[in-house]
Amino acid sequence: MPIETFEIPRPDNMHVHFRGMSGLLRLAAPLTASVFRRAIVMPNVPQIRTADDLVNYRRDIESVTEGADFEPLMTLMLTEETTPEMIREAHAVGCSAVKLYPKGVTTASQHGVADVMKCEPAFGAIADCGMLLLVHPEKPGEFVLYRERMYLDMVRWIMAHVPDLRVVLEHISTFTSSRMVQDGPQNLAATITPMHLHGDLDMVLGDGLRPHNFCYPVLKTPEDRRELIRLALSGHPRVFAGTDSAPHVRGAKESPCGCAGVFCDPVAIPVYAAVFEQHSELANGSSWRDRIRAFLSENGADFYGLPRNEGTMRLGRASWSVPGVYVDDDGKEVVPFLAGETLEWQITERDDHA
Ligand code: DOR
Ligand code: ZN
Repeated sequence: MPIETFEIPRPDNMHVHFRGMSGLLRLAAPLTASVFRRAIVMPNVPQIRTADDLVNYRRDIESVTEGADFEPLMTLMLTEETTPEMIREAHAVGCSAVKLYPKGVTTASQHGVADVMKCEPAFGAIADCGMLLLVHPEKPGEFVLYRERMYLDMVRWIMAHVPDLRVVLEHISTFTSSRMVQDGPQNLAATITPMHLHGDLDMVLGDGLRPHNFCYPVLKTPEDRRELIRLALSGHPRVFAGTDSAPHVRGAKESPCGCAGVFCDPVAIPVYAAVFEQHSELANGSSWRDRIRAFLSENGADFYGLPRNEGTMRLGRASWSVPGVYVDDDGKEVVPFLAGETLEWQITERDDHA
């Protein structure tokens, strides 16, 4: 008999995009806050390059999530101008991690890093403060399907030069990254999105062009996806959820040169649950519920050195239709991941104070 309901501690989302103060922020942040207890908030839009930027942005997020039992965990965007002093200032105001965007690889990364070697002093300061380095692992200018694989040597270079730095490979999409993390040292972890577990490149290009499934890194081959599913279900302690939910208004996605980013937080937990259940044979002697609990609610906190969450979330097998569109209070439309589709799992209950 398949189980009908199960409970996990309240989950964390270790990678999310909210946007600056606008209808989009007022739509996206409360939605994430209604599902996750904590989220690591990316610093690309708006650009968070200083401690002051971080404090102002956190205040904006808190103002639109007031009343929710939610804690935004803030990050700083690394540029070639980021000094060790700026890292220490960010840490002093509560920064959790620093994000490395290679220059030009994705949305708003034009101030990202072209020459990683220039950042060695900053990397040292990040490690000294006990913060993490989050890496968007894609090499600019390379063929799109090879970009991730070709950036991994750069990550190895950083780890060799700053051996006590904790590093997260964000939104891994390839077999190669999966194996690098699986066989890697204690200070290397990875996040995996619902998109990269749910589908492959066919979901973007294989049946007409589907811009709402387009993100960077792009979804890859069936073999890559299979390996990511295997890793997620293996119970590896340094692999955890980071949804990469990234809202863009409909017109910016349905365009001759559409933006990368999938607004997935409305469906993230049900999608993860469906994938874990469908591949329960990969849980390898454990149950898929134990595996998803670790992936959503334990491994991220442990790697970041945060206390595990109190409170619980209950999931039930109860089908529901994903809205075709969300409209923000500026009247802007955002199409969510799997818009209009029927999902089998849903969040049925939440108890903030267990
Ligand atoms: O698809 C993506 N969208 N990948 C990123 O790295 C950034 C994000 C965004 O900000 O829209
Ligand atoms: Zn992202």
